Amino acid sequence: MSDNKLMRLDGAGACLFDAYGTLFDFASAAARVPDLPPEKREALTALWRDKQLKYTWLRSLQGRYADFAQVTADALDFALESLGLDTPGLAARLMALYSELEPSPEVPAVLAELRRRGFRTAILSNGTPAMLETLVARAGLEGAFDAILSVDAVGVFKTHPKVYQHALDALDLPARSIAFQSSNGWDAYAASDFGMRVVWCNRYRQRRERLPGAPDFEISTLAELPGLLPLAP
Ligand code: LAC
Repeated sequence: MSDNKLMRLDGAGACLFDAYGTLFDFASAAARVPDLPPEKREALTALWRDKQLKYTWLRSLQGRYADFAQVTADALDFALESLGLDTPGLAARLMALYSELEPSPEVPAVLAELRRRGFRTAILSNGTPAMLETLVARAGLEGAFDAILSVDAVGVFKTHPKVYQHALDALDLPARSIAFQSSNGWDAYAASDFGMRVVWCNRYRQRRERLPGAPDFEISTLAELPGLLPLAP
């Protein structure tokens, strides 16, 4: 990875963001169920996320796409049962909370600054269009994005190259003109391998992946992103 001080994302015209974990805090669903014991809350968040991602990869390998709402609900059922938490109504409550995840604290100000400086902004996510539009609206971020792009349009999940190509087609930009931000190492590496400029927002202090690709920058919150970009596109 480059030294952040030596090189900026010159030439980037659009900032493209992953949603879950990058803009929105997926731990905020279980955190808002007060009757879950704290140690179960963390285990549930981790297992739910882990299983959700595995299902996206497995379904993509098998060519058996089901949308992210379905995959998320299936993963939740698995996690609740594994942890002995399958009490009536809990799954429905958690799914409802998943549609109103809180944005990470720095997100609204960073998006506002990028747009003020003239950068195009967009989301590229596994989430369905309905899930993403609801999240954005509940967070009061309508108007903060030029485009909300979902893998649903191509019927396969990240990290299939079709997903990253969908963003190029929708934004009508070459890969090198897009700065892609993800907190998921595997997503950051894949977008880099695809040819995008990539900022790995390593909020969760993940280890570097042993996968194709090499993110251009690593930051710990999105508050560091505006400083990596030229003053204007
Ligand atoms: C997304 C997941 C991978 O938003 O975080 O695509």
